[in-house]
Amino acid sequence: MSDDKSFYTTFFYIMGGLAIGCVILIILASNLTSEVAEYKPEEVVVGNIRPVGNVRVAGESEPEPAAPMAVAAVDTAPAEPRSGEMIYNSKCMSCHTTGAAGAPKLGDAAAWAPRVAAGKDSLMANAINGLNAMPPKGLCMDCSDDELWAAIDYIVLNSQ
Ligand code: HEC
Repeated sequence: MSDDKSFYTTFFYIMGGLAIGCVILIILASNLTSEVAEYKPEEVVVGNIRPVGNVRVAGESEPEPAAPMAVAAVDTAPAEPRSGEMIYNSKCMSCHTTGAAGAPKLGDAAAWAPRVAAGKDSLMANAINGLNAMPPKGLCMDCSDDELWAAIDYIVLNSQ
């Protein structure tokens, strides 16, 4: 029986020790993470992730760091409409120069004549909505209607 007693005494000492160890670890962990959880004002965060350098032109006063949103806005809005030829070369050429997927080729007057005869509205509607293997907007998703028409006009003028 005295063996049982010493077993329980030892057992409770060990459990007590573990419990105290646990509390110490919890306190330690909360101290280590308190800095991360601390709220930082937005200016501090933006300042921390700002690019290291700014371009400065001699004679100009120090430029204000660009607001993050302004950069994104510049990227999405083209300064002026692209020409029909530019759009054709970057977006439509892959199909309309090779005739891939049965696309009427640039310069193929016979293939274009009946389509052109159907009128501008028909050409535009088919280009915007797509037609069979012709994808909507010819895959030029950021093309305005004017730019799309400029590209079609370029094709039509070069396919007579
Ligand atoms: C993935 C290939 C592909 C790309 C890219 C593509 N086209 Fe087409 N296009 C076609 C095919 C195929 C047709 C013929 C569809 C049919 O008549 O079945 C077609 C037909 C057309 C037509 C004739 C529509 C009509 O009324 O008959 C126009 C206009 C046109 N494309 C303009 C464009 C323009 C502009 C672009 C670029 C912005 C472009 N396409 C990019 C495949 C393509």
